[in-house]
Amino acid sequence: MDGLARLEYRGYDSAGVAVLGDGALHTEKRAGKLANLREALEKRPINGDGAGIGHTRWATHGAPNDVNAHPHVDDERRVAVVHNGIIENFATLRLELEEKGCKFVSDTDTEVTAHLLALEVAEHGDLAAAMRSVCKRLEGAFTLVATSVADPGLVVAARRNSPLVVGLGEGENFLASDVAAFIAHTREAVELGQDQVVELRADSVTVTDYDGAPVEVNEYHVDWDVSAAEKGGFDYFMLKEIVEQPRAVADTLLGRVSADGRLSLDEMRLSPADLRSVEKIVIIACGTSFHAGLIAKYAIEHWCRVPCEVEVASEFRYRDPILDQQTLVIAISQSGESMDTLMAVRYAREQRARVLAICNVNGSTIPRESDGVLYTHAGPEVGVAATKTFLTQLAACYLVGLYLAQVRGLKFGDEINTVIAQLAAMPEQVERVLGTVEPVRELARSLAGADTVLFLGRHVGYPVALEGALKLKELAYMHAEAFAAGELKHGPIALIEDGLPVVIVVPSPKGRSVLHDKVVSNIQEVRARGARTIVIAEEGDESVRPYSDVLIEIPAVPTLLQPIVSTIPMQVFACELALAKGNDVDRPRNLAKSVTVE
Ligand code: F6R
Repeated sequence: MDGLARLEYRGYDSAGVAVLGDGALHTEKRAGKLANLREALEKRPINGDGAGIGHTRWATHGAPNDVNAHPHVDDERRVAVVHNGIIENFATLRLELEEKGCKFVSDTDTEVTAHLLALEVAEHGDLAAAMRSVCKRLEGAFTLVATSVADPGLVVAARRNSPLVVGLGEGENFLASDVAAFIAHTREAVELGQDQVVELRADSVTVTDYDGAPVEVNEYHVDWDVSAAEKGGFDYFMLKEIVEQPRAVADTLLGRVSADGRLSLDEMRLSPADLRSVEKIVIIACGTSFHAGLIAKYAIEHWCRVPCEVEVASEFRYRDPILDQQTLVIAISQSGESMDTLMAVRYAREQRARVLAICNVNGSTIPRESDGVLYTHAGPEVGVAATKTFLTQLAACYLVGLYLAQVRGLKFGDEINTVIAQLAAMPEQVERVLGTVEPVRELARSLAGADTVLFLGRHVGYPVALEGALKLKELAYMHAEAFAAGELKHGPIALIEDGLPVVIVVPSPKGRSVLHDKVVSNIQEVRARGARTIVIAEEGDESVRPYSDVLIEIPAVPTLLQPIVSTIPMQVFACELALAKGNDVDRPRNLAKSVTVE
């Protein structure tokens, strides 16, 4: 229970444990806070002396309730399993298992693994062999941890694309998705590699690959302690969440392309016929989610040729918007609880528009009240400033745009596949950017004394500039403003004075060169008036170098997808500048993570 409590920072919606004792599996699971599980265990203590497993769940498949909480067990309660990640082919496996007579009680993807493991253990009697064979059948991302009544001193776990660490104690060993869970007991650890299975007993740890071949492991010493544990070794959640972005984007794309290369977003609950009848799209959102919506507009209109409006949710219902059954309203909300967005959703549905939510929190109010939902899989975001959830919102918006183009027959399959492949490559590009942000940190520290920073961008670079300014306002409490670069000469250029830092997002020179060249002219305009230009441009774009006081290079990616990489230096810049000013970046003043008042 203490281990689970140490993982509390990850946010969760339910928790459960399974412990072996007297030849049986004893389980308890509760929706809500860990305190609910603790209370249930106090009323009905578990009497077990064998191995135990526990889990805090962040719902992806199935509502956050007692039944869907982990651990899951098979019909005869011989195997218990907990799972992080998403098993993409669970529907096929579930059908196959139901045909064999297995009874399912939950709506989760996880439960298939309990039944599969139990069948394998019944046949071969060995939980580790069972795990290896089951993992070969699973598609997607997972960490699985299982126990079986057949061997009460053993825990077996496996991983693919989802973390798993072993803690090495004396006469005791641990397994967790994060060192934080066992740091109070040991700081010696082994990180499992991709596609590995570990057999854990109190006095032994054996690691193999999925074929059972032994694997060499690297032990390491964790150089941080309990106090830093909940932040995964980072000083702030925000720093950790920025680093988690490659994984978050990858998870959001996961499972959404079927074997034949077509996008399948059936979970959206809007039929292809519904989507074909759409004549107009209206995106509503607040803050950072609004910026994701602004970027989505460029992609949706370009790919789908459907008019798309974007509006801050708090303004939407007060202007008597024109909505009907042929209008698709897309509500973007990380939390799913922003009151402004929720009220706009209710208003849109009253006007008989169909509403699709893009949301990060499973079972939250906005998706519940919408006609359909596409979940981002960023995982919990604790820092108040949105970072990884913004990038995943972008990924989700691109998926919606491409899916609309697919069902409306507006693009050839191979054109869509090309963009999907470009999207699939984005986590790697995000990782690359994260590896090059140290100079951005230095720059941010050097600007801690500045009063104002301006941000400029054109096309999709404009919402990125807005996001950069918002991050700086909310974290560093600085005056920061963003302009569409072309608007500059219509007024804001009067603000430019000697030494004023101006951040400019430059589009790829390989896309539309007119767009690129116009931004380069804008850089020259502000520089000629004394601005200190901080230029975010594509690697190899030499044309900007002569006009850049500071050049931040980002990888070459397609124009429409550039915000996924160009936003990252903005996040790092704001975070570091705020830290240099001594601000708490996780809890900026006056702000709440979820704004539940209008
Ligand atoms: C900025 C930020 C806020 C939220 C906004 C909407 O970093 O976090 O601007 O983006 O309050 O919240 P959600 O997306 O939960 O509706």
